[in-house]
Amino acid sequence: MTSVAGWLPYPSMSLATDPSSTSPSPQVMARPAYDRSDWASAFRNVTLELTDEPLKARSGAIPAELQGTLYRNGPGRLERGGHWVHHPFDGDGMVTAVSFGAKGVTLSNRFVRTEGWLAEEKAGKPLYRGVFGTQKPGGPLANVLDVRLKNIANTHVVRLGDQLLALWEASSPHALDPHTLETRGLSLLDGVLKPGEAFSAHPRFDPGHHGSERMVTFGVKSGPRSTIRLMEFASGEGPGGEPPGTLLSERSDSFNGFAFLHDFAITPNWAVFLQNAIAFNPLPFALGLKGAAQCLASKPGSQGQFWLIPRDSGAFAGQPPRVVPAPEGFVFHHLNAWEEGQTVVVESIYYADFPSIGPDTDFRRVDFDLIPEGLLERCTIDLASGTARSERLSERCCEFAMVNPRREGLNSHYAWMAVAERESGNDPLQAIKKLDLSSGERRVWSAAPRGFVSEPLMVPRPGGTEEDDGWVLTVVWNGARCASDLVILDASTMGEVAVLELPLALPHGLHGSWVTA
Ligand SMILES: [Fe+2]
Repeated sequence: MTSVAGWLPYPSMSLATDPSSTSPSPQVMARPAYDRSDWASAFRNVTLELTDEPLKARSGAIPAELQGTLYRNGPGRLERGGHWVHHPFDGDGMVTAVSFGAKGVTLSNRFVRTEGWLAEEKAGKPLYRGVFGTQKPGGPLANVLDVRLKNIANTHVVRLGDQLLALWEASSPHALDPHTLETRGLSLLDGVLKPGEAFSAHPRFDPGHHGSERMVTFGVKSGPRSTIRLMEFASGEGPGGEPPGTLLSERSDSFNGFAFLHDFAITPNWAVFLQNAIAFNPLPFALGLKGAAQCLASKPGSQGQFWLIPRDSGAFAGQPPRVVPAPEGFVFHHLNAWEEGQTVVVESIYYADFPSIGPDTDFRRVDFDLIPEGLLERCTIDLASGTARSERLSERCCEFAMVNPRREGLNSHYAWMAVAERESGNDPLQAIKKLDLSSGERRVWSAAPRGFVSEPLMVPRPGGTEEDDGWVLTVVWNGARCASDLVILDASTMGEVAVLELPLALPHGLHGSWVTA
């Protein structure tokens, strides 16, 4: 269904309600639903910075109760002076804000003015190497022994107190004005962080398990023995009246082995880390041959481990961490975790192996069939016996999964995630799935064949009591008009509520957050 203008709001919503029908039909298996050039057309520079640009719904109606701001972060600059990044994850962070208020909807966007971005803007060429393999022009000789990190602030954006934090896990956050998106500069969070200290791009927001809202996060110092610094900040008013942004507690724990930790999960009593069985050989990085992340590789014959660190706000405060062998597989992102008696349950997206893009591969021509897909699994950790068992929750390629934010750390009925259009096999993400985590029942909204989704954010309806009462917001790359759309879905039915055409072309993005007005 294509209009004269080349685009209709996404017409192909499909519903599947049979939890047992996880085997794809041959027709579904045989044909990817997308044209690769549509997917690859999103890899481009963002060329505009807009301020309070008014938006209207192209179809549907914007819910009056949806009041707040959607913040998105992701790589916005992929080429400079004719030199392309080797991997989009090396692109400079660009933050977009879509604000829903009584007077309508507006959009603003700004590049994060990092030291590296400013210097490269001035030079008109790349001056830094990238973690994911981007090299400075001039070959290995121009890159050898240059181990400086360019803090590109491109992974996530969250509100803490009176500032937005643009996050990049290997170094300090950048503080932004939440209204103008102007970069205030590197933030050490009122002296909590040392300059350059690693600070995760995956904070978790405790909705109030201990009486007040908290941002729980970590930094990791990796080596033959790795140290995790776990920090809890007041994200609303603290338990003792502390202002948002105040550090409420912290602890540091060291573990044997090189830690590659992108994400973690929380329960009321535990911070749960999955240490992938992975090795790091820095030599090719030092020699100027590979990016640091390209020096990570699976460690054959080794087993991953769960590291469970007691939260200072919980029942096991002050106790040492628990270490439990983990099932095989590689995890970037977790969905959620919760406690059930003596067990801690963690739901995560597993890959059969560490997916890496080698130095000779063009990311726009990557063969999806050669890369393992992410699959949602539930792992039940028995704290009494120190063992874990896992079960597959879905056979469909997925990423970027979340539960209702009010259920963070609790057993949840539903999850929302980005999925491939096909029910099996690895493809770009083109649809949003609501999954009933008990029955397996699912509802899917799809942007295929020409749309490509980003991380969905579930926004609960104010005053709503049902877990799936609210909306799901996702930015979609519209391959037909080579620009981005914001799609609002009904979180319960997955029906399309509204589509807003953005006056921007946003490359495939990373993470973002919703801040209620
Ligand atoms: Fe992530």
